[in-house]
Amino acid sequence: MSIIVTGAAGFIGSNFVLNWLNNNNEKVVALDKLTYAGNLENLKSVETKPNYVFVQGDIGDSKLIAEIFQEHQPRAVVNFAAESHVDRSIHGPDDFMQTNIIGTYRLLDEARSFFNALNEDAKKQFRFLHVSTDEVYGTLSSTDPAFKETNQYEPNSPYSASKAASDHLVRAWHHTYGLPVLTTNCSNNYGPFHFPEKLIPLCILKALQGQDLPIYGDGQQIRDWLYVVDHCRGITTVLEKGVVGETYNIGGWNEKTNLEVVHALCDLLDELKPLDDARSYREQITFIKDRPGHDRRYAIDATKISNELGWKPEETFETGIRKTVQWYLDNQDWVTRVQSGEYQHWLNKNYS
Ligand code: NAD
Ligand code: DAU
Repeated sequence: MSIIVTGAAGFIGSNFVLNWLNNNNEKVVALDKLTYAGNLENLKSVETKPNYVFVQGDIGDSKLIAEIFQEHQPRAVVNFAAESHVDRSIHGPDDFMQTNIIGTYRLLDEARSFFNALNEDAKKQFRFLHVSTDEVYGTLSSTDPAFKETNQYEPNSPYSASKAASDHLVRAWHHTYGLPVLTTNCSNNYGPFHFPEKLIPLCILKALQGQDLPIYGDGQQIRDWLYVVDHCRGITTVLEKGVVGETYNIGGWNEKTNLEVVHALCDLLDELKPLDDARSYREQITFIKDRPGHDRRYAIDATKISNELGWKPEETFETGIRKTVQWYLDNQDWVTRVQSGEYQHWLNKNYS
């Protein structure tokens, strides 16, 4: 038996593959285009395992996808592959439309062809799990209840609109063609291997380099943070126990303002890597121009996955963020290597 994991060299995909191979022997076929966000170094610790195969390629390449299905005869596909950064989608939406919409469509359609040719037993087992985001639901006011699976879709950024489109395609391939799909919509993840264009790793790195910690607008936007390994466990739970055609929200019950998050990072760094002059890293916080169309608040109601499938996060924000800061302190070589020319180019473009 094997599963295909797309976007396997990215932040969550690589954590998922590592977690999967640590916990069972089933083969993983890891597919990734290796865009700026994909990093094979994340998967180095498993590259010699006999039940791990890596293929570099695009989920939009139908011929390649068909070949992978034929060669590996998977019982499931877990689709992480996406352009994932809201700010990049504002500067250049094209890649988001190509991968998140067209790419998902092509992957779904190849999965459909493969599924149709399976025998009845294999059909019963087959799953296509699509990993999506809470951002498809739009933004909440401070008093709104958290997002449920029944909330209507109101995406506000090019990124979230492209993810919403992909979710609709997944739904349609189930209703029209009977493809056994599952969709998960998760809140903000954090943890090891997080590419430092996103708030938490960006601020850890900038703090250590003595640079400004850039907070958009007033820093009072709220996100619901989940430790990445808890997300990976949630996806595995949905893959094994989820009801075909259903959507499951995954979240950490950890709503924090961006300023609270950055304060927490600074306080941990003050403890774990104090500055020589006893200054606090908090002094590096700088408020900058807001993100266009910035969603004010996201919050996930994870009651369904908890009640129906028995999943709950294991980390609190306090335990997860401490592990994360420590990981970045312990993995300075990884940090140095991901700060390539392309990364510097992005910083200049977004923050100048
Ligand atoms: P990421 O940007 O770190 O990784 C994405 C990976 O996909 C990269 O390795 C990249 O090389 C690969 N990729 C991009 N285009 C591809 C293509 N056309 N074909 C094959 N591979 C391609 O993203 P992430 O944070 O790991 O997010 C993974 C998934 O989870 C995404 O679908 C994202 O929408 C979703 N998600 C992310 C979060 C979060 O907080 N990061 C929360 C909820 C949902
Ligand atoms: O909610 C889930 C989503 O979380 C995922 O679908 C996305 O793939 C993932 O990138 C993430 O999106 P966000 O836009 O919420 O993440 P980001 O880390 O970019 O920003 C988190 C918050 O911090 C957001 O309110 C914007 C703010 N921010 C971000 C950056 C990069 C800043 O204030 N300053 C910054 O420099």
